[in-house]
Amino acid sequence: MSFSIERYKEESKKVDVTGVAWSDVTTYPLSKGDLFCLHYMMDIENHVPLYLSHLLVTRACMDPILTAFLACWNYEELWHGENLGRLLNLYGIEFDTQERIANVRANLGFQNSFSILSTMTGSWLLKDFSAVYLTIGAINELSTLTGYGALIRKSGHPVLKDLLGRIIKDERRHFAFYFNSAKEWLAGNERAQKIDRWMLNRVWVPVGQGVKKQEEVDALAVYLFDDEQGEEELLDLDARIGKLPGLSGIKLMSKALYAARERVRRNPGWAWRLIESEEWAVRPPEAVTGR
Ligand SMILES: [Fe+2]
Ligand SMILES: [Fe+2]
Repeated sequence: MSFSIERYKEESKKVDVTGVAWSDVTTYPLSKGDLFCLHYMMDIENHVPLYLSHLLVTRACMDPILTAFLACWNYEELWHGENLGRLLNLYGIEFDTQERIANVRANLGFQNSFSILSTMTGSWLLKDFSAVYLTIGAINELSTLTGYGALIRKSGHPVLKDLLGRIIKDERRHFAFYFNSAKEWLAGNERAQKIDRWMLNRVWVPVGQGVKKQEEVDALAVYLFDDEQGEEELLDLDARIGKLPGLSGIKLMSKALYAARERVRRNPGWAWRLIESEEWAVRPPEAVTGR
């Protein structure tokens, strides 16, 4: 798996949706689980600029290759969110995209600023901290494209399959960048490998957690991955991350699935009640309701 920043800069563009059969979106049904995942994924794609604000305060951003990548990457992610929103709107789910994005951000409050400050401090205190967020970038991109693949399989919706297939191609390039950059940083650097492994085992959370609550993250995990194939895919994902220097045998996504399963086992209504209630589709911001 190779990655050329020069080629990426030349070729980066918004996802091409020419020929997507938008008029057929309502011809095929989407289950409540599919819709739950689409809302979650759209919100997280739309959250990328705030995630970027974290990356930009780290000292890894002294590297012009990283900033060139981030400039293009952020633009591509924008169009993933836009197109998922478009599909939901065409399916008949009404929301104003700008309002929804603003609501998701309003819910974060102090937590976002605190998180930026701790990332900045960690990065400036520990040179090898860069390895951690490059690895997290790789895991996030790989989880995202694995999640899209699982949603294609679960939904069996041909228009969604076409759209997500195109988005997945972008996510593969993003993964290649983060993975190769992390590998470069970690290779022959035992101290960075130790920090990376230690941090991942303690502070890593699945993509979207923090913006979404634990139960929402669990709902996505059990809907998409709680079957034999899903579990297999998450074990493969962990194995690919385990190929990074110093991360052999690490278990992250599969561990998150097992923890989600355990919470569902202990509380049978857990996670599924969110999918069933459809509150996620209409929920107003907590900052407004004071919840
Ligand atoms: Fe994306
Ligand atoms: Fe991505």
